[in-house]
Amino acid sequence: MATAAISPPQVSDQKMLIDGKWVQSASGKTFETLYPATGDTICRVAEGDTADVDRAVQAARRAFESRAWGSMDAAGRGRLLYKLADLIEANAEELAALETLDNGKPISDSLHIDIPGAAAVYRYYAGWADKIHGKTLPVSGPFAAYTRHEPVGVVGQIIPWNFPALMQAWKWGPALACGCTIVLKPAEQTPLTALRIGELAMEAGFPEGVVNVVPGFGPTAGAALVAHPDVDKVAFTGSTEVGQEIMRRAADSNLKRVTLELGGKSPNIIFADADVERAAAFAYSALFFNMGQCCCAGSRLFVEDSIHDEVLEAITSRAKKQRIGDPFDRQTTQGPQVSQEQYEKILGYIDSGKSAGARCVTGGSKLDRAGYFIEPTVFDEVKDDMKIAQEEIFGPVLCALRFKDVDEVIRRGNKTMYGLAAAVWTRDIEKANRAAAGLRAGTVWINCYDVFDAAVPFGGFKMSGLGRELGEYGLQNYLEVKAVVTALGG
Ligand code: NAI
Ligand code: MG
Repeated sequence: MATAAISPPQVSDQKMLIDGKWVQSASGKTFETLYPATGDTICRVAEGDTADVDRAVQAARRAFESRAWGSMDAAGRGRLLYKLADLIEANAEELAALETLDNGKPISDSLHIDIPGAAAVYRYYAGWADKIHGKTLPVSGPFAAYTRHEPVGVVGQIIPWNFPALMQAWKWGPALACGCTIVLKPAEQTPLTALRIGELAMEAGFPEGVVNVVPGFGPTAGAALVAHPDVDKVAFTGSTEVGQEIMRRAADSNLKRVTLELGGKSPNIIFADADVERAAAFAYSALFFNMGQCCCAGSRLFVEDSIHDEVLEAITSRAKKQRIGDPFDRQTTQGPQVSQEQYEKILGYIDSGKSAGARCVTGGSKLDRAGYFIEPTVFDEVKDDMKIAQEEIFGPVLCALRFKDVDEVIRRGNKTMYGLAAAVWTRDIEKANRAAAGLRAGTVWINCYDVFDAAVPFGGFKMSGLGRELGEYGLQNYLEVKAVVTALGG
């Protein structure tokens, strides 16, 4: 297939989207967004804070109560979402280039995974818009009862930098299908695709104020959104620590509804009776995809004793074959980490693994070049209680652990505060399903990993979160149930 080169786009300074208009921040402040492969500034972006969030929330409230949106047919909302999906597809190369520039992820991933994935989520929820409905209920006495599933109202959405356009789609798709209005705060590291998709939403014809995009930092713009008394619900994806803070603040403000998609330390379990070659190949991508910056990364690789050497060998040889470097080169498989902060945090974990006595079998250093590049790193002989086996590293660092039998590995697999995802590799259907039942995680993959679909719910047990995104389940985050009871007389 002929594939023309995509080069880093020129991007001008960015305003924010409030009430359908592009505006500067009330304070006049701006911040820089960087290209992680070089550390160079891409452009400056309007920096939102309390006053901007307040303006955006007011616009979202007016839009929620407007005829243009509030009284629009459900099918009309669906049509707008289909249009947005089409526009994302029509501008896929531009969006992929923006995503790669802002985040540093390889262009082949932005182009084949992130942007088409986002379009698919909008299209999936477009189909739901006119299929959201309540129930009629059998009640005692001369009464009739039914429920209405109504939009929760104005929603604040705060997203991270690892999959910017995709996370925006996971948030916007269901909220818009349900008839909510939105104030989105993208991550400060990666505001660019959110702003461009905001522009495409206006082009699609969403009424003014239905979607607002306020870039800025967490403790200022993010916190203002969470504390705002006229926001009905907040949906967050990011660190567990900030998730806890958001829940506290939401409780203290107006008891706004909260859904959280947080960290993970997911066990990926390979039994000796698996297709070992395939399992090892997936074990590599389960962790190293997106430079290890995935909440569901298979970061604890449990390998049954008898196949341990074979699996470690396969993974190590894969690590050595990676093409690390220029994110705009289509052959590149690994780009830089997103920021200096993440880069340093990951290098700290690598030091911690070494000093705790885990065996670093490949990698273990930064690359000697500009940008936030780290070698794919594999630690063997990791013990359950080591810091690198308990905390989310969010980088290209795989921890391998040995096990002997099913019940042991289920117990150890569950031994973290997280419960986002897990995977088991075996040809034994009983073993697979026993593990799937025993693992306390929101997703269990059997003989696969990172298989996402707009129809399949995703979210965490335990401290990995609250609520489920995607699928029919994802709609519930944006709905209130109203019971209507009518006296029949007589
Ligand atoms: P973070 O949780 O601080 O940031 C995520 C989003 O929350 C950003 O938009 C940020 O501006 C916002 N935010 C931060 N503090 C806030 C506050 N007080 N109130 C409201 N919003 C706030 O995550 P960060 O610092 O980028 O990364 C730290 C660690 O979090 C990573 O190393 C990784 O372990 C984890 N993480 C998990 C993600 C996931 O997909 N579950 C995504 C990103 C980070
Ligand atoms: Mg943070």
